[in-house]
Amino acid sequence: MDKLISHSAAWAALKAHQHQLAPIHLRDLFAEDSQRFERFSVEACGLLLDYSKNRLTRDTLSLLLNLATEAKLQDWIARLFQGEKVNNTEQRAALHIALRNRSNRPIRVDGKNVMPDINAVLAKMRQFSDSVRGDSKKQWRGYTGKPIESIVNIGIGGSDLGPAMVTRALKAYHHPRLRSYFVSNVDSTHLGETLAALNPETTLFIVASKTFTTQETLLNATSARQWLIDKLGDNNAVAKHFVAVSTATQQVTEFGIDPINMFEFWDWVGGRYSLWSAIGLPIAVMIGMNNFEQLLAGAHEMDTHFETAPFAENLPVLMGLIGVWYSRFLGATTHAVLPYDYCLELFPAHLQQLIMESLGKRVTRDGKEVDYPTGPIIWGTPGNNGQHAFYQLLHQGTHLVPADFIIAIESQYDLPGHQNAVLSNALAQTHALMMGRTAEQTKQALYSSGITDKMLTQQLPHRVFQGNQPSNTLVYKKLTPQVLGKLLALYEHKVYVQGICWGINPFDQWGVELGKQVASTLMSALRAEKAGLNGLNGLNGLKETAQAHERHDSSTDGLLNYIKAYRHR
Ligand code: F6P
Repeated sequence: MDKLISHSAAWAALKAHQHQLAPIHLRDLFAEDSQRFERFSVEACGLLLDYSKNRLTRDTLSLLLNLATEAKLQDWIARLFQGEKVNNTEQRAALHIALRNRSNRPIRVDGKNVMPDINAVLAKMRQFSDSVRGDSKKQWRGYTGKPIESIVNIGIGGSDLGPAMVTRALKAYHHPRLRSYFVSNVDSTHLGETLAALNPETTLFIVASKTFTTQETLLNATSARQWLIDKLGDNNAVAKHFVAVSTATQQVTEFGIDPINMFEFWDWVGGRYSLWSAIGLPIAVMIGMNNFEQLLAGAHEMDTHFETAPFAENLPVLMGLIGVWYSRFLGATTHAVLPYDYCLELFPAHLQQLIMESLGKRVTRDGKEVDYPTGPIIWGTPGNNGQHAFYQLLHQGTHLVPADFIIAIESQYDLPGHQNAVLSNALAQTHALMMGRTAEQTKQALYSSGITDKMLTQQLPHRVFQGNQPSNTLVYKKLTPQVLGKLLALYEHKVYVQGICWGINPFDQWGVELGKQVASTLMSALRAEKAGLNGLNGLNGLKETAQAHERHDSSTDGLLNYIKAYRHR
């Protein structure tokens, strides 16, 4: 795209339309049109999307669809699916869709069909997960001959959040003998607390890192390996208790894991899109490979829908365009994700990485600074917990907060009365947030409760609800591996739609680099200071500290010195 999308006719038309629509309350839109639900809801792939409670009309929708045309979205979708290098700043394809390509149609990167390699890794994952679970004749056993009981995934970011979320969500499908743990944080509390609960003889570590250079993961893996060797008293035990998932064979080998115990993936799989690859190994072990393949099949169904459905009925396209509408034209800076399905408790955290690492950008794919807001701040927690925590701000605060309510008709457990409580609360919230309660309605309600005039005057301003808070509602029958696959792929493609509409590359993450580089100089400063204390390398160490100091601001130096002084006390 040569010019910014904000200079297009489609953008200008949306801006003008926003001025017309601004004074109209959502409750007026519903009062004017009794068919609003039928008009603004779509069912596809077993998911219902009700987007009628959004501040939009048929005109808004057609203007947003014009914007998609202006951004050449159809063309970009084709490029994604054809394996083109849509990640232009890293010169890579973004082929998470190939990882779940259950039709097995050839998908080429640089002329090579990637499907045989993907299928070979899936076969290796099946063999491994079957043997750990004890589903095959040859059971994987620990160094002392005992079957595995605990699976510990060591990874961070995309090598943690996706698999942790899916494993949590599909707890009902777990193998009864196995327990899973996800260690990501470099603070030794995380690993220390996890190891304290484990028996080394029956523990299997999966070290998951695309690059195998990530500081947090390598430190955690090194400490875990030492713990295992100390407990079992033999270096040879590592081979029976450590496997790796990575694109970097050499680094894995250098770490001491036999490449036979390494599960490969490829640079065209982005970290936050990697749970479909061998990064999903802990999922496959916990729920079994057949269920893992159901997860892939669900995602594939959504991929096909995204690739082929007309835009006006296309779930990711609709959700993506609605998000663009709120962020640029209505000034929303955040987006809440509110699952009314407790097993999705980690879903908002996964979406934080997926959306904010993908769309937190301020230049277009060809390097121009944007003059419009891009990705929103994503946050959320399962209902009803959120209702008793932050919904107050949604109901009576000053921020516009578009939200996705994600509703399962059935829970994983069937306890009398519970699911009606969940469903009634979810529907009540979307209704109340949209309709609010006017001063007149509030007066009537207060009068009928027998309140005095004086109290009414005092209380009225506090008891009015402005409403007009928009939401999407996504409904499915029950969370299964397949449904989860669809839901995840829906959000991945929503991100792509928004990236294209804003003209940005959603597949790189240069923004995380600066902090990593500064941390490494500070790490040297802290290490050097320790070396200085120990005498031998003291002079060099102190020199290094001084150099690191020169590069930092006075606040950082002050904090560093405070920590050092504290250590000397
Ligand atoms: O620092 C961000 C990031 O690069 C993420 O994009 C990625 O998911 C995470 O770090 C972990 O990286 P790796 O899998 O290479 O250890």
